[in-house]
Amino acid sequence: MRRPLVAGNWKMNGSLQQVSALLAALDSLALPDTVDVAVFPSMPHLILAADKLKAIAVGAQDCSVQAGFAAMTGETSATQLKDAGCSLVLVGHSERRELQGETDDVVASKFVAAQSAGLVPVLCVGETLQQREQGKAIETVTEQVEAVIRTAGVDALANSVLAYEPVWAIGTGLTASPEQAQQVHEALRNAVACHSDAVAQGLRIVYGGSVKAASAAELFAQQDIDGGLVGGASLDPDEFGAIIVAAGK
Ligand code: 13P
Repeated sequence: MRRPLVAGNWKMNGSLQQVSALLAALDSLALPDTVDVAVFPSMPHLILAADKLKAIAVGAQDCSVQAGFAAMTGETSATQLKDAGCSLVLVGHSERRELQGETDDVVASKFVAAQSAGLVPVLCVGETLQQREQGKAIETVTEQVEAVIRTAGVDALANSVLAYEPVWAIGTGLTASPEQAQQVHEALRNAVACHSDAVAQGLRIVYGGSVKAASAAELFAQQDIDGGLVGGASLDPDEFGAIIVAAGK
C-alpha cells in the first residue's frame, strides 16, 4: 500500500505575518497518522516553517540545477534548502515551465540536484488544454517523465513523488474528473512499469489542479491517485485540513 501524501503549494503568497498565522493554524491541526503532509512556502519563509511545524514536512518550490554552492546570483541550491530544514522540493511545476521557460532537460537536472543533496523531488507534469484537446495528454506527461528517467535512471524515481497537474485545471476551478485523473495516473504508472514494475508500484502519484475539500475524497478514492498537491485551498487551514482527512479515509 502506498501512503498518501497531501502537500500544499503556497506559490508566491503570504506576508511574514500571514504565513506565521497559517503555520500556527496548521501546527494545531489534528492530522490522521496515515497521511504524509507537506507544505511548500516561498523561499523567505522556509526556515520559519521548518522551525514551527512538527508533524508537517517542508519543501521548496524550486531549486537550482547546481546542487552545491556556486556563483549563481538569485538561485538557491538543494544543499542550501536541505540546510534550511527542507526535505522536499518541487521540480518542473507548470508555472515555471511556462513563465521561466524550464525545459524537460532543466527539470531533469534539478531532479538530480535535489536528490544529490538528500531532498525528495516532487516532479510535476501536466498537459495544456490544447494538448488535451489534441488527444496528446498522456503522450505529453509520459514524455515529461521519460526525460527524467533518461537522465536519472528509473531507480531514482523510487525516491521521488510524481505530481500530475493538468495545466488547464490549475487555479481555474476546473478540476479534472476523477476518471480523467485516474486515466492519466494509470498511464504514468504503466509507463514507469515498462522500466521497473517495482518502482512503478511503490511510486506515489499525486493529483493537483483546483483540489478542494469537496472534490478530494472522490479523487483520492481512485486506485492510482495517492494524494494531492493543493494550491489555493492549501492557504486555508480548515480547507487544507479537510483535504488531509479525506486522504486518510
Ligand atoms: P490550485 O489548487 O490553486 O489549482 O493549484 C494547483 C497547483 O498548481 C499546485 O501545485
